[in-house]
Amino acid sequence: MGADPRLYVALDLPSTQQALEMVEILDDDICAYKIGLQLLPVGGMELAQVLKARGKAVFLDYKLHDIGATVQKAVASIAPMGADMLTVHATPDVMSAAVKARAEHSLKIMAVTVLTSLDDHALRKIGFAMSAEELVLHRVKQAVEAGVDGVIASPLEACKIRALVPDGFLITTPGVRMSDGDKGDQKRVSTPRQAFKNGASHIVIGRPITQASDPKAAVGAILDNIRAG
Ligand code: C5P
Repeated sequence: MGADPRLYVALDLPSTQQALEMVEILDDDICAYKIGLQLLPVGGMELAQVLKARGKAVFLDYKLHDIGATVQKAVASIAPMGADMLTVHATPDVMSAAVKARAEHSLKIMAVTVLTSLDDHALRKIGFAMSAEELVLHRVKQAVEAGVDGVIASPLEACKIRALVPDGFLITTPGVRMSDGDKGDQKRVSTPRQAFKNGASHIVIGRPITQASDPKAAVGAILDNIRAG
């Protein structure tokens, strides 16, 4: 079974060695990987280069959030390294700084709208008056204005987001689970097939693959689910 370039596997693992072992196991079934905060301090950028050299797409999920000047310098350091996507939080000054610093590089700037582990209740507790969906759509409009390439959002919101964004705008959705799968800390979830039907351009799946007793079989079931659609 060939890989689907729209499926990113989140390598949320303790070491680059374990990450590379997972990449070996998944082999040609997966051509795109997400490196996040767990691997960043222990060789994540070096791993990104290794994966790029093996022809894989690399999504750096670092969720940058700082004053604009600092984000700009961080993105200027990251952009020439050849990764395909980078996340920043969907705050207007952060997004504009990232777009400016990406300059002519092919790195796609992806704005995190609202973490998929947060629901309305959790947002109220933090102090937001808007529901998760209202906040996502509000931030999507600001993301389009800032000129980012896409957003990260729950698969449940992808449909409404598609209606607000220009053609070609990317929507990457974590929070993807097979219908019989353990949701873990994810709250706003859907199946892979439903995420694409809702308008996602890419999906990210981590633990259902990396913690599976047979990760290759888990990928097979996910690809079957996507292709059945
Ligand atoms: O293991 P799981 O499939 O839940 O992994 C989802 C990945 O997507 C994690 O690496 C998580 O950090 C990331 N993510 C998320 N929600 C967002 C942005 C990123 O779950 N809004």
